[in-house]
Amino acid sequence: MSATKIDIFDTTLRDGEQVPGCKLNTKEKIELALALEELGVDIIEAGFPISSPGDFASVEEISKVIKTVRVCGLTRAVEKDIEVAGAALKLAKRPRIHTGIGTSDLHIKAKFRSTREEILVRAAQAVKWARNFVDDVEFYAEDAGRTDNDYLAKVVETVIAAGATVVNIPDTTGYCLPTQYGEKIAYLINNVPNIDKAILSCHCHNDLGLATANSIAGVMNGARQIECTINGIGERAGNTSLEEVVMILKQHKSLNLYTNIKTEQLNPMSRKVAETMRMYVQPNKAIVGSNAFSHSSGIHQDGFLKEALTYEIINPVEVGADSSKIVLTARSGRSALAHRLHKLGYQFNRNDIDVLYQQFLKIADEKKEVEDTDLQEMAKQYQPESVTV
Ligand code: KIV
Ligand code: ZN
Repeated sequence: MSATKIDIFDTTLRDGEQVPGCKLNTKEKIELALALEELGVDIIEAGFPISSPGDFASVEEISKVIKTVRVCGLTRAVEKDIEVAGAALKLAKRPRIHTGIGTSDLHIKAKFRSTREEILVRAAQAVKWARNFVDDVEFYAEDAGRTDNDYLAKVVETVIAAGATVVNIPDTTGYCLPTQYGEKIAYLINNVPNIDKAILSCHCHNDLGLATANSIAGVMNGARQIECTINGIGERAGNTSLEEVVMILKQHKSLNLYTNIKTEQLNPMSRKVAETMRMYVQPNKAIVGSNAFSHSSGIHQDGFLKEALTYEIINPVEVGADSSKIVLTARSGRSALAHRLHKLGYQFNRNDIDVLYQQFLKIADEKKEVEDTDLQEMAKQYQPESVTV
C-alpha cells in the first residue's frame, strides 16, 4: 500500500508568536514565512488579522510573497473577524480561513453562556460566511480535547455540511492522553457520515508534555494534518514541535505516513526561529537541542565510537545538525580519551593511555568539560618514549 501524506500546518507565526516576549514585526514574519515555504510546510498560519493592524499587515504581506504554500488567517466565529481575514488574504495564491468556536461544555457555558444547539448554529454560520471569501475553510472546535465525542461528531458533521474542507480537533489545554486523543479521532472517522468530504487536523498543546505523542496518535487513527511550531513554541507549555513529528514519521516507516519537509533544514530553521524570536532552545530538546547529538557517558562513547547506531537513531546530517559530539567529562572512558588524543594528532600505546587517563580524571573532576587545549597541555607534559606527534 502506498504511503499517506500528512500535511504540515505551521503555526509558528500565530500560536508560536503568542508566547510572551516573542512578538515579531512584519519584516521578521515575512522572512520566517519564506523560510517555512523553503522548508516544505503545506500551510503557513500567518496570523490573526483582526487582532491588530500589525497582524493584518503581516498576513497581507505574507500573502503577497508566498508562492506555492497555503496561507491561513485565524478568526473567531464572528462575521467581522472573517471579513477582515478575507481582506488580509485577498492576494494569497492559496488562501485559507481558519475559523471556529469552543465546543466543550465548559467553554459553551462559562465562556459563551450559550447552549450546544446555539453553538452548532454559530459554527455553521461562520463556515458559510467564510466560504464567501475563500474556497478553503478550516474549522476549529476549540477545547475538542475535553468535548463530549457524541456532540463533537455533530459539530464536525455540521461544519462539513456547511462547507469546511478541514476540521481541526484541538486539544487546547493539552489535557488528553495519547490513547484518548487517538480514540477521539477514530470515533470521528467512524461516526461522522460526511467525514470523507474533509480532512481532520491535530492541534495539540504541551501542558502535560504529550503534544507530540497526541499528534502522532491522531494521525495513526486517521487525521491527515498536524498543526505544529518550530521548536514547539506556543501558548503556555507550547504546541506540538514540528521537528519531532516530522522525524517520528520519517523514522517509523511502518506507520506508512510521510511529510514533504526537507529534514536537513530542520536545525538551521530552528536556529533562525530561536534567534528571530529571542527564545532559546533547551539543550536537551529532541532533534534541535545542542545536546541532541552529544555523548558524554563512557559506556555510550565506547559504543558510539565502535558503531554510531548503538547510541544514535538519527544521523545528524539528516536533520542539518553539527556532527555528533563526544563530550569529555569525568564520566568518559579510556576509549573516548584515546580517540580524542588520536584526533589531535597524538599516538599513545595502551600503557600511556592508562597513565594519561588518571591525569585526565583529575582535570575532569575540576572542570565540567575537558577541552582540547587541556588535553594538548597534558600530552605535552607527558614524556615517555612512546609518544610521537
Ligand atoms: O489551541 C487552540 O485551540 C487554538 C485554536 C485557535 C485553533 O489555537
Ligand atoms: Zn493552539
